[in-house]
Amino acid sequence: MSEENFEFLGDLISYKREGNDVLLICGVPQVRLSLLTPDIVRVRATKNGKFELDYSWAVIKTEWPKVEYTLKDRGSYLEILTDRLLIRVNKSPCRLSFFYPSGELVNEDFPPFGIGWQGERVKCWKTMPYDEHYFGFGEKSGPLNKRRKRMVMWNTGSYGFDWETDPLHKSIPFFIGIKDGKAYGIFFDNTYKTVFDMGFTSEEYYSFEAEGGELNYYFFLGPEVRRILESFTELTGRMPIPPKWSLGHHQCRYSYYPASRVLEIADRFRKEGIPADAIWLDIHYMDGFEVFTWDKRRFPDPKKLISKLREKGFKVVVIIDPGIKASYNSKIYQEGILNDYFCKYRTGEIYYGKLWPGICAFPDFTDENVRRWWGDLHRDLIKIGVEGIWNDMNEPTIQSRDLRTMDPDVIHFDRGLRTPHAKNHNVYGLLECQATYEGLLRMNPNKRPFILSRAGYAGIQRYAAVWTGDNTANWEHLALQIPMLLNLGLSGVPFVGCDIGGFIGTPSPELLVRWYQIGVFVPFCRNHTNKRSYDQEPWMFGDYYKDIIRRYLKLRYRLIPYLYTCFYEHWKKGYPIMRPLLFEFQDDRNTYNIQDEFLVGDSLLIAPIIKEAINHRLVYLPKGIWIDYWTHSPYEGPCYIEVEAPLDKVPIFVKAGSIIPMQPDMDHIDQKPVDPLILDVYPSKELSKYTLYEDDGLTLNYRKGQYCLTNFSCIEKNGEIEFTVKAREGNYSPPRRSFWIQFNNVNFKPKEVLLNQIKLDKASSFNKLRKTVKRWFYDSSQRTVYVKIPDNGLKQHIKLS
Ligand code: GLC
Repeated sequence: MSEENFEFLGDLISYKREGNDVLLICGVPQVRLSLLTPDIVRVRATKNGKFELDYSWAVIKTEWPKVEYTLKDRGSYLEILTDRLLIRVNKSPCRLSFFYPSGELVNEDFPPFGIGWQGERVKCWKTMPYDEHYFGFGEKSGPLNKRRKRMVMWNTGSYGFDWETDPLHKSIPFFIGIKDGKAYGIFFDNTYKTVFDMGFTSEEYYSFEAEGGELNYYFFLGPEVRRILESFTELTGRMPIPPKWSLGHHQCRYSYYPASRVLEIADRFRKEGIPADAIWLDIHYMDGFEVFTWDKRRFPDPKKLISKLREKGFKVVVIIDPGIKASYNSKIYQEGILNDYFCKYRTGEIYYGKLWPGICAFPDFTDENVRRWWGDLHRDLIKIGVEGIWNDMNEPTIQSRDLRTMDPDVIHFDRGLRTPHAKNHNVYGLLECQATYEGLLRMNPNKRPFILSRAGYAGIQRYAAVWTGDNTANWEHLALQIPMLLNLGLSGVPFVGCDIGGFIGTPSPELLVRWYQIGVFVPFCRNHTNKRSYDQEPWMFGDYYKDIIRRYLKLRYRLIPYLYTCFYEHWKKGYPIMRPLLFEFQDDRNTYNIQDEFLVGDSLLIAPIIKEAINHRLVYLPKGIWIDYWTHSPYEGPCYIEVEAPLDKVPIFVKAGSIIPMQPDMDHIDQKPVDPLILDVYPSKELSKYTLYEDDGLTLNYRKGQYCLTNFSCIEKNGEIEFTVKAREGNYSPPRRSFWIQFNNVNFKPKEVLLNQIKLDKASSFNKLRKTVKRWFYDSSQRTVYVKIPDNGLKQHIKLS
């Protein structure tokens, strides 16, 4: 689309200061700048002088405190200055630029175009510095760094997508730009089909545009990526802490049936000693694929099945698709018709489209009454013990050859505005998840819901974990999952995963192993495969592969206290759990294109093998000391190193100074109380700190302060190591237990270990130490000191010398 056909924003004629807002009047068109904080500004522009009704499905925070700022007219431009941000409004023509107060430019409208309209279309152009790089954009295929990419936001079911496929299932019109280590963020909150052209068309500018709606974006100054994410998730919400079991290993396939097969799978996990927490039921559990029904032949007594599974430590998650079969035998369909709950054309005719059960009608989730009804439909499932809901096909996908979704002119209630599907399409899945989430909460007001969604819009993290849809069992897909998941994390969505092993086709045993070696470090860890593909449970390819997979799943389960604390960190600050290196090292330009390594939290760097028949790779280690998890060799970054990675090994590096909380092996997450709580410590010469988060894992009591934080710190100096546990904070008390502290890479032969200045006895062997407390043991071959002490919730101090 050529720029000549646009009407661009003209000259600034006058302006008004209105509290936190500055209104820019440019003839008929107007721009409203709203300072939400000293470094977040919202920009809205209208062509006809009338702003749209102001609401957003994504934004949850709309009240902001007063911001102090000065507004000065400098003749040819206006200057708006807070204590963190300087906005310059050029008058002729009206163009915006954002600076640090020092005068350093951060981002500016591309002077020739700025903001423009073409019919209903709205567009904004920004100058694109030659060395600026772009990340985020929700779920996108292709490389981590989106410079030179053109991306469309239009939720689309994409069976077997590849590196180039666009759009995919989710639309999160948010990105982070980084230049010279300094970042800013832009959230274009417009739900119409949106296009981001990040230098695909031009080397001079990038642009974002939508087919309709208002030009409405938020600018976040940064310069820290983490600060931008904190602000973006303050605006659009964070994920509440999920039920702890959902961090476990999930087993799915399309589909497990009958009931006896489901039990067989559960029993096999326990027999094999392979940890797992949930079994998923795909569409064949339903009667003719009709949602909220059971196939009574395959599942004669679902309640009994679920309770038998519960005894074995398994939760059950069931799939729900949004289509309701248009059949007068269906009570739900009748209710929907009677109450006017379905999406319709302007003429009043119901919209029908094809989904698994045949011709279906589709609930209009933009209507609050429909959301309530939908949420309540889950009652019977929840009553018999279903623990999680899997919202699939909610782009929405219609199984037709042409549009693959509803007609754009189908009407949605949309707060009584009755707007077209074109406006509501991208939020359909978000609102379905909201309906489900709120319904589950109404049924069990103190229990954390668990929902997995395929579609989403900005804010989806408030309700659901997400996965990347129908990937393929090949090496290209394994590689592309990493940047996809990393960019989702940079878009505010922490609980992300992909089908381990690949959905379409059958992985080779080697591919399945390599996939698990990534999957166990990915927040949402689920093995899933297609209807006709070969079974791919961890034991399917024989003992050699099974043993490796088991070893990695066990490692994940040991890491649960660490992973769970990452979820707490997200809830508090909006940070991702699976992080690109640039999240921690944004000053390091090398990290902008690293998409075959990632961090889990800030302590673990994973450098997986993503190619066939490869048993070594180059690893980039950013600044700092990194310790090879397997050999304990230290490396000083920034550096590239070559590491061996035979099939049973994924290279893992631990940041020096890390204190990693772990738990003993478990078959499933709540199998037994955590005792001892293991602290895997990598002492460093600089003081390092870690805060462990714990709660009951299941209820919402943590929101009322029922959780506890334990602060640990460690330093190595002058041939001594000092380790401190601070007194536990908070209202939750974990069950009685001891601490098993493992000091790695101890550079001296310790003569004594003091606990609160009193000498501890030495255990005669490692095994003896396991059976006692208040003892220590030194393994000279590993240079590791193990110390076991009771966890009394009080301050304790350990000194190794
Ligand atoms: C969709 C989902 C897939 C599921 C299948 C059947 O393709 O993405 O995960 O197994 O539908 O429900």
